[in-house]
Order: sequence, then C-alpha cells, then structure tokens
Amino acid sequence: MKWRILTSEEKMAKMEVKTSLLDNMIGVGDMVLLEPLDEDSFINNLKKRYDHNEVYTYIGSVVISINPYRSLPIYTPEKVEEYRNRNFYELSPHIFALSDEAYRSLRDQDKDQCILITGESGAGKTEASKLVMSYVAAVCGKGAEVNQVKEQLLQSNPVLEAFGNAKTVRNDNSSRFGKYMDIEFDFKGDPLGGVISNYLLEKSRVVKQPRGERNFHIFYQILSGASEDFLCKLKLERDFSRYNYLGLDSAKVNGVDDAANFRTVRNAMQIVGFMDHETQSVFEVVAAVLKLGNIEFKPESRVNGLDESKIKDKNELKEICELTGIDQSVLERAFSFRTVEAKQEKVSTTLNVAQAYYARDALAKNLYSRLFSWLVTRINESIKAQTKVRKKVMGVLDIYGFEIFEDNSFEQFIINYCNEKLQQIFIELTLKEEQEEYIREGIEWTHIEYFNNAIICDLIENNQTGILAMLDEECLRPGTVTDDTFLEKLNQVCATHQHFESRMSKCSRFLNDTSLPHSCFRIQHYAGKVMYQVEGFVDKNNDLLYRDLSQAMWKASHSLIKALFPEGNPTKINLKRPPTAGSQFKASVATLMKNLQTKNPNYIRCIKPNDKKAAHIFNDALVCHQIRYLGLLENVRVRRAGYAFRQAYEPCLERYKMLCKQTWPHWRGPARAGVEVLFNELEIPEEEFSFGRSKIFIRNPRTLFKLEDLRKQRLEDLATLIEKIYRGWKCRTRFLLMKKSQIVIASWYRRYAQQKKYQKIKNSAVIVQSYIRGWKARKLLRELKHQKRCNEAATIIAAYWHGTQVRREYRKFFRANAGRKIYEFTLQRLMQKYFLEMKNKVPSLSPIDKNWPARPYLFLDSTHKELKRIFHLWRCKKYRDQFTDQQKLIYEEKLEASELFKDKKALYPASVGQPFQGAYLEISKNPKYKKLKDAVDEKIIIAEVVNKINRANGKATSRIFLLTKNNVLLADQKSGNIKSEVPLGDVTKVSMSSQNDGFFAVHLKEGSGAAGKGDFLLSSDHLIEMATKLYRTTLSQTKQKLNIEISDEFLVQFRQDKVCVKFIQGSQKNGNIPTCKRKNNRLLEVAVP
Ligand SMILES: Nc1ncnc2c1ncn2[C@@H]1O[C@H](COP(=O)(O)OP(=O)(O)OP(=O)(O)O)[C@@H](O)[C@H]1O
Ligand SMILES: [Mg+2]
Repeated sequence: MKWRILTSEEKMAKMEVKTSLLDNMIGVGDMVLLEPLDEDSFINNLKKRYDHNEVYTYIGSVVISINPYRSLPIYTPEKVEEYRNRNFYELSPHIFALSDEAYRSLRDQDKDQCILITGESGAGKTEASKLVMSYVAAVCGKGAEVNQVKEQLLQSNPVLEAFGNAKTVRNDNSSRFGKYMDIEFDFKGDPLGGVISNYLLEKSRVVKQPRGERNFHIFYQILSGASEDFLCKLKLERDFSRYNYLGLDSAKVNGVDDAANFRTVRNAMQIVGFMDHETQSVFEVVAAVLKLGNIEFKPESRVNGLDESKIKDKNELKEICELTGIDQSVLERAFSFRTVEAKQEKVSTTLNVAQAYYARDALAKNLYSRLFSWLVTRINESIKAQTKVRKKVMGVLDIYGFEIFEDNSFEQFIINYCNEKLQQIFIELTLKEEQEEYIREGIEWTHIEYFNNAIICDLIENNQTGILAMLDEECLRPGTVTDDTFLEKLNQVCATHQHFESRMSKCSRFLNDTSLPHSCFRIQHYAGKVMYQVEGFVDKNNDLLYRDLSQAMWKASHSLIKALFPEGNPTKINLKRPPTAGSQFKASVATLMKNLQTKNPNYIRCIKPNDKKAAHIFNDALVCHQIRYLGLLENVRVRRAGYAFRQAYEPCLERYKMLCKQTWPHWRGPARAGVEVLFNELEIPEEEFSFGRSKIFIRNPRTLFKLEDLRKQRLEDLATLIEKIYRGWKCRTRFLLMKKSQIVIASWYRRYAQQKKYQKIKNSAVIVQSYIRGWKARKLLRELKHQKRCNEAATIIAAYWHGTQVRREYRKFFRANAGRKIYEFTLQRLMQKYFLEMKNKVPSLSPIDKNWPARPYLFLDSTHKELKRIFHLWRCKKYRDQFTDQQKLIYEEKLEASELFKDKKALYPASVGQPFQGAYLEISKNPKYKKLKDAVDEKIIIAEVVNKINRANGKATSRIFLLTKNNVLLADQKSGNIKSEVPLGDVTKVSMSSQNDGFFAVHLKEGSGAAGKGDFLLSSDHLIEMATKLYRTTLSQTKQKLNIEISDEFLVQFRQDKVCVKFIQGSQKNGNIPTCKRKNNRLLEVAVP
C-alpha cells in the first residue's frame, strides 16, 4: 500500500462532519419532499415546524418564512458563522442560507441577485429584508471604509421606517411604501454603496387614519422624543391631542418607545450623512405638516352669492409661515382662491369650506410625500457608490404586501396590482429557472399546469382596456368626471373579464349579488377577491394640488420646501398635466420588473401565522389562505413536475456512498459513475431517476426517503461497526498498554528484587569474607605471636644458656654470696636515694600540715608510713617544746576538757576557742569583796558569777562561785557573804545535759555538812571550764576521779526529795536562754531552746 501525507485541506475535509438538510428534520425541511403533497399535509408540515420553532421551510430554493412574533435565538453571530460558506441544503432552512447562497453566487459567479420578499402585511417582509442585509453585512469584506458603507446602508432603514412606516391594525410597524434597494459590490464582494427606490407612499394616512391606526411614526417620535427647546423651535407642543392629524385611537403602541426611537432616528440620520441644517429642515417640514392639520375654515358668504371660506384662527397659519418662511398673505390667499389658467387666461375662483379643507389636506399630503421622496434621494446621495468601476448588484425588494381591508380604495388597488406583478414574475422566473435547469442538465422538459395571473395583470394594466388606463382616461376627459362615471366606464369595458365583478356590469351574473354594493367593483386577484370602493379613485389618481398652493410653497424662503415644489416656479409654468398617480406607479413597477428580470431571483415568501400579532398561535385557515394565494402548492408542483429532488453528484455520492460496497468507503472514479454504480446496486427503478450533467434527478420523494431510510439503517450498522472496531481497538490498545506496563513494572521489579538479592549476597559475602579474613588474620597473628614467643623463648633460653655458659665460665672468678651483696648494695643505694630525696621533700613543721610526699617504691611502704608517723611526732614535740609552763597548764586543761566533753556535750565546741581564765571576778582588787577575800585564804582557781536555781520554784539567783584547792564556795553577789562551803571531798558527782546549755548539778555526799539543803543546781556561761577545773582540782586533792554524768535526765537530791531534772526542747521566745521550771516535787523541767 502506498502512503501519502494528506494536505491540510484534505484533512479538514475529512474532519468536517457532513451534514444535510435531511438530518434531524422536523417534518420535512423542503416541501418538495412532502408526501403526500396536498394542502393539509402542507399546512400540517408548516405547523409542526412552527411549533418546534422552525419558522423557515424550503420549496427548493424558495424560503417560506412564518412570522414568529417573538425574538428567536437564531440570528446570533454564531449562527451567521454556522451558515457562512455552507451549502444551501447542508443545514436546516434559514434565511441566512438563502442570503449566503445569493451573496456567494454574486461574488463567485458574478451573477447579479435580487431577493424578492413577499407576503401580506405583518408577515415579516421588512424584518426579513433587514436580516438579509445584516447577514450580508456580516459576511462581506471588512475594513474602515467598507464598514462605513455597511453602516450607512444599514442605518438608512431606521430613517425610512420612521417616515414611511405606521401602526396599522395588521402590523405595528407596517411599511406604507414599497422599497427596493440595490446593494452594490466590487469584484471582491466588498460593498461599495447602494441605491434605494421607493414606491408610492400611502400619503392619505397623513391626513386621516383608519380606526385603531396611527399616522406615520415620525410625528409621534418628535412629540415624545424632542427636547422642550427643540419643540419650541418647531413651534410644537408635546400633547398629541393638540393635533387634528394625529388619530388619538392608538397614540401609544405597546412595546414601542417613540422617544427612544426618535434618538435612534436622529443618530441614524447623522450616520447616513445628513447635515445638521438638513435634519433641522426635515423636522421643520414635519412640524409644518402637523400644524397644517390645525388650520380650520369657516364659511363666509360673499355679496355675489358665491360661497367663500375664511381661516378661523390665524395664529396657526402665522406659525406655519414663520416656520417655513412663507408670506402669510400668500398662503392665506392660496387657501381661499384657486387660479385656473387656460390659453393664457387666468380665472380666479373662490374656494368654499370643503374645497379649502381639500386644498389644505392636499398640501399636507404633498408636502409629506415629497419630503419622503426627498429623503430617499438624499440617502441615495450618501450611500451612492463612489467609484465608476463595474458593480455587482444585490437587490432587496420589500414591498407592501397584498392587502384586503373592509374598505379598499385606490391605494389597495395599487398595492395589490404590484403584488400581482410580483407573483407573475415569481411564476415566470421560477418556471424559467426550472426549465433552464432541465435544459442545462440535459433532461427532457415536461409541461406543467399552473395558474398564470397574467390575465389579472392584463385586466389592470392593459394600455387600452386596463382599469388604470380607464381611470386615466376618465381623469383627463373634459366634462364632469366623478368616481361613478369611472365605474360606469369600467362596467362597459371590463364586464366580460372573468376576474372583474360589478353589480352594474351588463353581465347579469352579479346583478343580484347583494354582497357587492353599487359603488364598488371587485377583482378576483390571484390572492383572493378584493372589493374596491370607487370613491376617491379619480381624485387620488389625479393627485391634484392647486397651483396657487405649489406656487405659495415655491415662494417659501425655506430652501427645502422650495426645492420640494419646483413646479411652483412661475417661470417654468407647465400647462401639461402631470402624470397621474396610477400611470406613475405603473411605469415604476414596469421598470422594477424589468430590473428584476435581469437578475437571479431569490424568494422569501413570508406568511403570517395569526391576526393577533401573537407568538405561538398558528391559525390554519389564515395560513391556508396565504398558501393558496401565494400559490405555494403550485410552486411545489412545478418543482416536482419532472423530478422532485435533485442533487449534485458529489454531495449525493458523499451522502449515500455507504449503501454500496463499491463506493464505500472511497470511490476513486468520477462522482457520476459512483452514483450510477450506487443506484444500480440499490436496484432503484430506472424511471425513478435521471442523470443530468452535474446532478442526479430523483422523480419521487419516496425514492429519496427510501434512500434516507437505507442510509439511516446503514449508518446505524456502520455506527455499530465503528463502535465495535473502536471498542476492539480501545480494548486492544488498553491491553497492549497494560501488557507493556506490566513488562515495564515486572522488569523494574525484577531489577529491584535482583538488586536486593545481590545486595544481600554481597553483604553476606562481605561478612563471610570479613570473618574469614579475621580468622586468617587471627591465625596469622597467633602464628606470629607464637613465632615471636618462640623467638623470645629462644632468646631467653639463649640468654639463660649464655648466662649459664658465662656463669659456668666465670664461676671460678666470683665468691659464692656476690649476688646477695649486690642485692643489699642495690637496696642500700635505693634507700640512700630515698632518704636523700625525702630530705628535700619533707613538709612544713606545722603539726596540722597533712602533706606527705608520695611513696617511690612499693617495698618502702611500711617505712614510708612509719617515717611519716615519726616525723609527725617529732614536729609535735618540737611544737610542744616551745610552750611555757603556764601555757602547758592551759593546754593540759584544754586537753582534759576535750577528753571529758568532746562529742558528749553540745556546748563543748564553743568552749574550745575560749581561753580558760579562771578568776573572772577579780576579788582581790574589788573592795566590795574584801570580806570574802579575807574569808578565803587559799588560792582561788575559779571566781565567777553563776546562777543558782531555786530548788523550790526553779528561779535563778546570782551567786559568786569560788573554787579553791579544797573547797567549793557560793557567796552572795552583792554582799560577798559566803552562803555555802563544800569541801571537794563532799562533791560526789557533777551532772549536766548533753545539750547546749550551762546547767549543771553539783551532787553532794549524803550526810555531809553541806548537804543539808540538798544538791546544788547551777548555771554558768563557763560550764566546760568550771567542770574541767573542778575535775582536775578534785583529782589532784582527793586522788579520786570526779564522776561527771552527761544525761538529759538525771536525779538530784533536794532535802529529802529526789527530783528529776529533765531537759526538753523549748521554744525560742526568751532568746537562747534556757528556762527552768519546777513542775512538781518530782520534776524540774529545763527548756533548752
Ligand atoms: N423573524 C422575525 N423574528 C421576530 N419577529 C418578527 C420576525 N419577522 C417579523 N417579526 C415581527 O412581526 C412584525 C411585523 O413584521 P414586518 O414589519 O416585517 O412585516 P411586513 O411584512 O413588513 O409588513 P408590512 O407589509 O405591513 O410592512 C415585526 O414588527 C416584528 O415584531
Ligand atoms: Mg414592512
């Protein structure tokens, strides 16, 4: 197989989803395919589509549009893009499809186009024309200049609608003029400009409106939207009711904001290119027209008996004249007189009131209609293409629809005539086109029966016997001419015409037809019978404006008004009658038809679904009527006469190629051959289709539907197939992906597992290796150590051996105990060294110095210790040797005290630092104690004041305590009288507590002289010293150790009683002084803090 890279276009084509009108169809999108084809199914199909918001339906290339009466979301920029450059039958029917087709064939095939929009009033023609224009504007070229042209073309609409549209009972925005607009394009399809033609404005509306209708929009817009200032300038008042020309019936229209629309119109005028002064002039004319209606006349009889009229209130006239710059007297005269000129003779006649009103209204109508024509000309000036190059043209025709009112007058007659003409051109062109296509495609043409309305057109426009010709003839005829004479004439001439009906006609058919009044005639239009009132036909056809009025207008200083009435120029008096309205219209219609015939027609046939202007209502009868007169069924029949359906070979093959194996999926040959193969394969009967040059023609819609059904079935099968293959592909892809993923995962896992395993093995190997290496190393070390030991052993052995050898050799030279000597010598040397070193290292001589040098050799341990002890003893001795005898005594006493009390009495440590002074009281020197001194002749060891505790109550009394060599004495502190004297031999014991107090008891030998009152309980600050000295003195005198009892509870003898002295923990409230209390005869408590 050969591979080729697709071009981007081919790719796009492949990607593009081919759609068709036949897809998702509601009902049938193209009436040509309707089966069975009859009125009911036709209407039902429209209704079904309308109910589903499908307001457009095709008949071949004709678009039927049903007014939705509400905004549908089908005109968005996205929709424009959707329909842009698409085949006509590719998407669901739409006005955009037709616009696109027309624009593209204009641009690409250089064919001028016209878009003919027809339908009755309110069917949506004007909206359709705007949609076409906006679509074309959206898709055609871009750029600043082009955009300005587009904008001007589009903005011409609001201006013309304001001046030419009005609310009627049928349509709130009814076009009261016909409009044909040529949009001109350059070769690229960029818009260059445009030309607008207008047809017969319904000017009678200016002065009178039927019930429930309004005057032209602009009047209401000015009054609602203009500023006070502007209104003042225009000499207008805002109140609608002030103006006779404004029907009050429906001054306001629902959903219409006149004021806002006024702003839109002014803005549009500016965009289109109106100068400010032009705009101003236009509104001045409008104001003048409005004010004209307020001029009223009253009858006045002249002397000569002729009726005359006079203006009732001249104020309005004055204002009009100020506004338009007309001389008031001139205008006043023009309303009162009529000058008839014949053969250079001027005859002036007065106007009666009726004639004056007629003149006023005629002036108002003329002013307004001429203003409208001027506006069109002015717009054309602005939108005119600026270049002279050849232009391509697209014409859009939006002309008033067929009208049947209760009272139909000249205007309806003219409008309906125009519609007849359009119908005719439609028939002609459709047939022509059909025929041309058959010829082009080389298919045999079969004749088709259809109603041709040429006969009706002839009834109206025939130059000799046509109604319009009759009317003109009547108007021009000398003598009295009335509408009745006109009818009579018609009755004579047209009586035999099969589409003309009249009571008066000779033809007796209608003599008894009471539905047909005598002043009327009836025409069977293609769209239905219409009865016309002849009243006003002649006048309206004449469209007479008295020359005095036109001359008065021409005299205005207002340049616009002057320009509107050129015939008023007296130097250019034209005695020839101006062409009648009828003939003017006929001529312009003829020109239009000619113009249309040169272009490629595109039809939009608008249908009005109901009379209520309401959404969602589909009135079958009303629609049926329109279908009938629009000849839509005929249209379908014409399309289907030969072949109902045709399609170019390429799209046909593209659409149905899946129905045949040879053509699916690709057909390599030419499309036509492909279609042939396809149709043969499908066994479609030969009479059912025919091959044209570029198209296949299918005779019967049934065949097409069969094809469609087959296609649908096949598409379902194909969808299943595609789905199957897609699912298979998806599963397979998924499977392959999973497989691939699985392999990847597995490989990664294996790698990981192997890595782990390898790592483990490696680690094990390293461990084993290290063990082995360790083992080997240890083995080697062991061997080496062994070897080393062997070596050492060998060395030692060798040394010993050598020693032995040497000793053996040298034994003879040594004494037997040389070793011992050496040993001792060595020892001596060491000792010597030790002692010499010690000499330098000995610590200080202070007995309390704890330092001692370290021991150098272990064997000197005991020596070292001993040396330390000796040294210490020696330095202590040295220290002691320094003491005098007295010092020695003191230390001896201190030592004694230490032995007695250290670690036994809490008071002791405090006494260590106190020197023992003994005689605290200097008795010998104090004369107070002279008696005491004299009484004691022995050496006093202690003289001190103590507290003696009263045995009875525990209170303390100061006493002098004296210790001599043999006695203990207690004396009064004040007098020095000796109270008690106890020989040391009678002191048996001294008791004290273990605590930090100075209490002590001196126990006396029972029965001794001093023991009469009992033992002494004393307290002293120098207890330790006293006790020590008492002990020492007793020992030295009696050679007996005094018993010192240290206990917190001891007994004392008070007279006959044994009293227990108990030391308890006391409070600190008296400071550190112990308190003593006699509790009872057995207990004396000492509280020690
Ligand atoms: N496509 C549409 N979408 C929404 N509303 C529409 C559409 N076409 C028409 N209408 C409504 O219907 C009204 C009448 O339409 P339009 O003025 O186009 O009628 P017409 O055929 O021009 O009538 P006439 O012959 O009186 O001028 C519009 O004002 C608008 O409200
Ligand atoms: Mg309209």
